[in-house]
Amino acid sequence: MADKPFLTDIQTLRERARKHIENGAVTAGYTADRETVVKLLNEALATEIVCVLRYKRHYYTATGIASESVKSEFLQHATEEQQHADWIAERINQLGGKANFNPAGLTERSHSEYVEGSDLVSMIRENLVAERIAIESYSEIVRWLGNDDPTTRKLMEDILKVEEEHADDMANLLVRLSG
Ligand SMILES: [Fe+2]
Ligand SMILES: [Fe+2]
Repeated sequence: MADKPFLTDIQTLRERARKHIENGAVTAGYTADRETVVKLLNEALATEIVCVLRYKRHYYTATGIASESVKSEFLQHATEEQQHADWIAERINQLGGKANFNPAGLTERSHSEYVEGSDLVSMIRENLVAERIAIESYSEIVRWLGNDDPTTRKLMEDILKVEEEHADDMANLLVRLSG
């Protein structure tokens, strides 16, 4: 039987790990373009921060007959977007990058927009648009990463799943309020 091991032998793994110890979590098996991954993650981080700010704004300013249940939804989403921002920042750090929290340029780095909305329905609609933008751009990041950085891909897939739930929540609220 041909002796062709599927995995890198343990000795080589250990030597590589020692050689590039300053690279932290990034090992020789990491085949993605790290700079681009960090750049994409910083854009995703900006997107999440803008989403936190937009949902918070909506939570504190929403008024009207149906506002109580809608507000609790806004608040829950704000909390989840904050969690996403934290996960992304942590991953940037693991990759040896620097998480960009600079408020200057935040809305330019973000994929989604900060729109205040004037009433409950327009707020919900803006959130739905923002979620759909996040879904599109995160799906692209997931596809681009492929097998080159499975950890970042898994992270973005986990976030993507929640953004799809968010979009669904907003779509359901719209139907309920305009029905
Ligand atoms: Fe998010
Ligand atoms: Fe979201």
